[in-house]
Amino acid sequence: MIGVFDSGVGGLASARVLRSRLKAENIIYLADRKNAPYGTKSKEELISLVSNDILRLKNYGCRICLIACCTASSVYEHLDNELKKISLPIIEPAALLASRGRKIAVIATEHTVESSIFKQKIAYFSKAEVAQICAQELVSLVESGEHDGNLTEKGYKTVFNVSQKIKSANPDTLVLGCTHFSHLEKTLSALLPRVKIVNSAKEGAIALLSEIQAEKMERGVCLYTE
Ligand code: DGL
Repeated sequence: MIGVFDSGVGGLASARVLRSRLKAENIIYLADRKNAPYGTKSKEELISLVSNDILRLKNYGCRICLIACCTASSVYEHLDNELKKISLPIIEPAALLASRGRKIAVIATEHTVESSIFKQKIAYFSKAEVAQICAQELVSLVESGEHDGNLTEKGYKTVFNVSQKIKSANPDTLVLGCTHFSHLEKTLSALLPRVKIVNSAKEGAIALLSEIQAEKMERGVCLYTE
């Protein structure tokens, strides 16, 4: 069984990718709504919440957990080794893909922006310029049920305002550095037609699929199809 978790509905975007590709696996999704939002929590609070999430999924029988939340993934290095072994963070896959750009904007939660984790990871791969933009307000928007194709006038204005901040950084690449923002990808893409969008939820899921593929190949079986 595979576990996927987030503070709310954001990580469902990762779970959907996994569901469509892993026909023979059971997937369990944990939304820690009781403690949401994660983006306004301190590093210490996040370490404790993320550790509990992984342990809960392990107790449900998961052998591996996708941390389908960039905020939660930002504290991965601070987790116990045993928890690290059975979980996969999602920052690096998105940072790697984004690093092909020259001017990158990252929209993320308060905590993720403060941690500068995307900036650090992108710097590992390239010398691209990185602008970080906090868009915590989009988390509550998505949690309230609004998403692409379902935005109220007020909701659209909120996304539009974030797009204006992104525009002023003049990026060629935009990282959706919070999985909740995957649910607004089409709207952001229409507002920023010349910007390549990197979706952290999707890239994280693809990274987990590669891990599973490698694991199966070691055992000489292939359980998911292209
Ligand atoms: N979906 C989460 C992320 O990727 C965070 C949302 C929250 O603030 O709870 O960062």
